[in-house]
Amino acid sequence: MRENYYSALKHISKIANSHFGLRKICNSIAKSSAKAVQGDGCCILLLNPQKKYLVTVGAYGLSDFYLKKGPLDAHRSLPEILEGEIVFIADATKDERVQHPQIAQAQGISSILGVPILKKGEATGELRIYSREPRQFSKAEKSFLLSVVDICAVLLEKAELYQLLEKDYRASKRQIKYQVPQLPTNALRPTSFVHPSEEEFAKLLDFYRIEWLYEPRSFPLQWEGNEVVEGFTPDFYLPEMDLYVELTTLKQSLITEKNHKIRRLKELHPEINIRLLDKNDYTQLLAKYGYGPLGEAKVEGIDHVLYSHTQIQRRVRALAKRISQDYSGTTPVLVGILKGVVCFMSDLMQHLSLPVTLDFMAISYYGGDGQVVRITRDLDSSITGQHVLMVEDIVDTGMTLNYVLKHLLAHNPASLRVCTLLDKRTRRLVDVPIDYIGFEVPDEFVIGYGLDYKGEYRNLPFIGILHPEIMEEGESPDTPP
Ligand code: IMP
Repeated sequence: MRENYYSALKHISKIANSHFGLRKICNSIAKSSAKAVQGDGCCILLLNPQKKYLVTVGAYGLSDFYLKKGPLDAHRSLPEILEGEIVFIADATKDERVQHPQIAQAQGISSILGVPILKKGEATGELRIYSREPRQFSKAEKSFLLSVVDICAVLLEKAELYQLLEKDYRASKRQIKYQVPQLPTNALRPTSFVHPSEEEFAKLLDFYRIEWLYEPRSFPLQWEGNEVVEGFTPDFYLPEMDLYVELTTLKQSLITEKNHKIRRLKELHPEINIRLLDKNDYTQLLAKYGYGPLGEAKVEGIDHVLYSHTQIQRRVRALAKRISQDYSGTTPVLVGILKGVVCFMSDLMQHLSLPVTLDFMAISYYGGDGQVVRITRDLDSSITGQHVLMVEDIVDTGMTLNYVLKHLLAHNPASLRVCTLLDKRTRRLVDVPIDYIGFEVPDEFVIGYGLDYKGEYRNLPFIGILHPEIMEEGESPDTPP
């Protein structure tokens, strides 16, 4: 038995150190692991970047339908693994921790052993061994699998490093400042796309920070007896929108076939949301969901998206809920400074479950360093004796807010609080009190959702980081609000 583990580990460490792609390496590790512990199948799963779903990166002895049984929610599927524990399931068809028990039954799976892949003590994925016969796993088998997952952890770290290098390489190509040698083509990517258009779509989704899963589910469409003779695997699943997406090519014959499959899928699963998209369709779809551009020119100059439209909306709703509770029974005055606050103010006030009134001020900067503030438009109505909530887009050095708060306090409001969507705390020069904060942002110039650079980008529905190239040399990006 020891001999078995030794030769399996020898093979696994050799393949992990080979030049093959991640999927091939993980398939091979899965095979050696399953054989060494006399399992019928094995798969290696990786947590997606949002750490919500598990994605298969390698497998052995399991059918495609089993592997693509649907999105695997990491917090529901054997959740103890996320805590770093080994999990044993004696009967997969009866255990409530198994997310797709019918499929396990159809596949004839009885026992499952899950072993976490830990990186610095934190789970990044897991290895699962499957058995058709009900069985137990010995101490020696578990100890062998713990060594395998340690090798997997090193391998996955290498893959992550590769991706960082790749990102850096792409950025360096754009900036043309320094040259990084071309990286090998056998990328250690967790997802291998069948078609380049799929990879392009995934990059676009990444840009907008939309979570995606690649081919997580295969739908059987036609059977002969117990055997599936026709199936359909949509390219993507977007959990935030609960939407499956199939990308089309330009070939009419393929489109007709896909349309037929989608019709059949809708008959069998009317609850499934699925769209067939070509490139034009998908930019329009993203625009419809508020993510972005109808034309690519509009997002030129953005290095990356910091907060997607959905993330902002979620946060604004949460802030509005707290404010509504805190101001319950009053009619506060919301005060904003034009123009950066328009998007935030508009969304925030619509989610408040209170009667409110609204007022705006405008200010301009003058003086050598642009940091001396002057009010160019004052409030329309008196705030004396009123509960005032100052609503800000971003607090940076805090100078503007400090000046405006002093001005407002001079009018003796009943109370004065501050709500800012963004807090660039690391740049603070004046200590200003802030009661409600949307997001703490890094020391970088942000644009979109009302915030501008030289008057542009205010209408983007997300918040992004301005590409450093756009900022002219030696120029301070700070613009009047
Ligand atoms: P402060 O007085 O330094 O706190 O600056 C506040 C004002 O500067 C904000 O209301 C914005 O108009 C502008 N500002 C500061 N940082 C940024 C940014 O990253 N993007 C866009 N505007 C900014």
